[in-house]
Amino acid sequence: MFGWQQSFADHHGSPGAAIKLRFMIRWIPLVVLCPPPWVSAQTADLEQGKQLFESLCGSCHGPLGNGGRGANLAQPQLRHATDDRALQNVIRRGIPGTEMPRHSFLNPSKLANVAAYVRTLGRVAPEEIPGNASRGEAAYASLDCVICHTLSGKGGIVGPVLDEIGARRSAAHIRDALVEPEAFTPDGYLQLRAVTKDGLALTGMRVNEDGFSVQFRDFSEGLHSFWKDELDVLEKQWQRSPMVSYEGRLTPEQMDDLVAYLVSLTGST
Ligand code: HEC
Ligand code: HEC
Repeated sequence: MFGWQQSFADHHGSPGAAIKLRFMIRWIPLVVLCPPPWVSAQTADLEQGKQLFESLCGSCHGPLGNGGRGANLAQPQLRHATDDRALQNVIRRGIPGTEMPRHSFLNPSKLANVAAYVRTLGRVAPEEIPGNASRGEAAYASLDCVICHTLSGKGGIVGPVLDEIGARRSAAHIRDALVEPEAFTPDGYLQLRAVTKDGLALTGMRVNEDGFSVQFRDFSEGLHSFWKDELDVLEKQWQRSPMVSYEGRLTPEQMDDLVAYLVSLTGST
């Protein structure tokens, strides 16, 4: 007999307890076979799921779920949401360290309905993206992106890491970012302009800020730290980016190729 069974029997006195124990063991497999506490897609209310999706998720994932600021969910395989349970966990808890927020206020049936609706989004034909990813890779290498962005461990830290950009953002969002970088600022990126009381003017990306001090990194990656009372000006430039639009600097074909390349960066190879 296993140690824990033995101690159970000792504690409760044999042989009556041992019979009860055998009875319990026989029922354990049945308990395991019972339906899981999350509701399956068949029983879900897809109409409610759709409404919840449109009101809670559409602003980031697009009303059709094919992405934007949020990932493209209209695909058969999702990176974080590998099965129904993982999908519900992602929705309920969010993805820490990313812009995907938690939705812990959803009750179990609403959670199941919105998750089931997300699954239906994956049953569409994959989005056709014009452009050639391998030509785009060559274009990336010939441009100045590496000064500010890290990819495969190489490059600067002024802008976000691009390794999984294709899994995090839609093709349309990526194109917009190249054409109009100032239109959207990812979480954690804010350009600051500071002028000290001695008249020294600096611009850079915010690293940290509290009520009394601010730290930022200039575009040569030099770190600066100031007490706020040392500054005459501290301007938060929400609508500014050090990244300059590539519209007009690339032909439309090169733009398509570059977007196709960035979309292919899903971190999964
Ligand atoms: C504020 C924007 C925002 C909102 C609102 C939002 N998401 Fe997200 N979501 C994101 C971003 C950004 C990611 C990608 C995170 C990453 O991997 O960096 C993401 C990722 C996901 C993923 C993981 C995709 C994968 O590949 O596994 C799922 C699933 C998801 N979101 C579902 C939802 C659902 C359902 C809702 C509404 C209940 C929702 N999201 C609301 C921004 C958002
Ligand atoms: C001078 C620095 C700089 C250069 C050069 C630069 N970027 Fe950026 N990039 C940034 C910064 C900072 C951000 C974040 C703020 C913003 O969106 O404007 C950003 C944002 C992005 C985003 C959006 C990321 C997201 O999560 O939404 C993409 C995509 C991107 N850059 C791709 C590129 C590519 C491709 C190139 C080269 C063709 C390039 N960048 C060149 C600094 C730069």
